[in-house]
Amino acid sequence: MNNGAFENKVALVTGGSRGIGAAIGAAFAAQGAKVILASRKQEALDAATAEITAAGGEAVGIACHVGRSEEVERLFARIKEEYGRLDILVNNAATNPYFGPVIHAPESMFDKTFEINVKGYFLAAQQAAQIMVGQDTGGAIINIASIEGLTPSPMMGIYSMTKSAVIMLTKVMAKELAQANVRCNCVCPGLTETKFAKVLIDTPEIYQQYVDNAPMGRHAQPAEIVGAVLYFASEASSYTTGAVLTCDGGSSI
Ligand SMILES: NC(=O)c1ccc[n+]([C@@H]2O[C@H](COP(=O)([O-])OP(=O)(O)OC[C@H]3O[C@@H](n4cnc5c(N)ncnc54)[C@H](OP(=O)(O)O)[C@@H]3O)[C@@H](O)[C@H]2O)c1
Repeated sequence: MNNGAFENKVALVTGGSRGIGAAIGAAFAAQGAKVILASRKQEALDAATAEITAAGGEAVGIACHVGRSEEVERLFARIKEEYGRLDILVNNAATNPYFGPVIHAPESMFDKTFEINVKGYFLAAQQAAQIMVGQDTGGAIINIASIEGLTPSPMMGIYSMTKSAVIMLTKVMAKELAQANVRCNCVCPGLTETKFAKVLIDTPEIYQQYVDNAPMGRHAQPAEIVGAVLYFASEASSYTTGAVLTCDGGSSI
C-alpha cells in the first residue's frame, strides 16, 4: 500500500473519523505518513484508525472537539510530545446544523456553525502554524471549505458564510506564513456522498438542482476530493500558497 510519498511526515486530519476526512487520512497513511485523526467520538476514531492499520498504515485517533480551545490545546500538546513535529494539517471537521433562510436562523445555530467551521479551523491552524514555523521544512495547512463559500445555495446561508470565512482564513495565513515556508491552501468540494450530505442527496428536488447545475452530471465520492489535498500537501505544489481549488464536477463554472 505504501508508495512512500509522505514517508516520515506527520499529518493531522480533523473530522477524520468518517467521510472526506477518513478518506484523506487513509490516503496519507497509504503513502507513508504518520496520521493523527481527530474528531469528537473516540469509538468512531478507533474504527477509522483500525482500517488504516489493517491496511498496513500508521494512525492514531485523538478525541477533540475542535471548537473548544482547551481541547485543541490538549490535542496539539500531545502531538508535540509524541511526534515532536507536525508537517501537514488538514482542517476538515465542520457542521451544518441549520437548513433554512438566514432571516429566521436562531442565534444558537449561527454560533454553533461558526464555532466549529470557523473558530475550529482558526484554533487548529494557529496551533499548527506555531509548530511549523519552527521547522526547517515548514509545513502545509489545507483547509476544506466548500463551493458554498464561493456561491451560496438557498437555505445554506450560514454554512456558506462560514466557508467564505475559511477561504479568507486560508489567504490571510498564506500571506502571513509564506516567509516561514508554511503554505496554506484551500479545497472546495461540491456535493460529496457522506453522512453530512445524505439529506441533500436524498432530497430529490435539491439533488436534481445540483446535478442539473454540475456539467459532470453527478455528485462526488470522498476519494475524489483526496487528490487535491495530497497535491497541496506535497512538494508538487511547492510554489502554491493561498490557492482555492474546486473539486465539484464543474458546478461552479
Ligand atoms: N459532503 C459534502 O457534500 C461536502 C461538500 C462541500 C464541503 N464539505 C466539507 O467537507 C468536510 C468534511 O465533510 P464530510 O461530508 O466528510 O462530513 P461527515 O461525513 O459528516 O464528517 C464530519 C467529520 O467531522 C467530525 N466533527 C463534527 N463536528 C466536530 C467537532 N465539533 N469537533 C471535531 N470533529 C467534529 C465528525 O466526527 P464526530 O461526529 O466524531 O465529531 C466527522 O469525523 C467539511 O468541512 C464539510 O463542510 C462537504
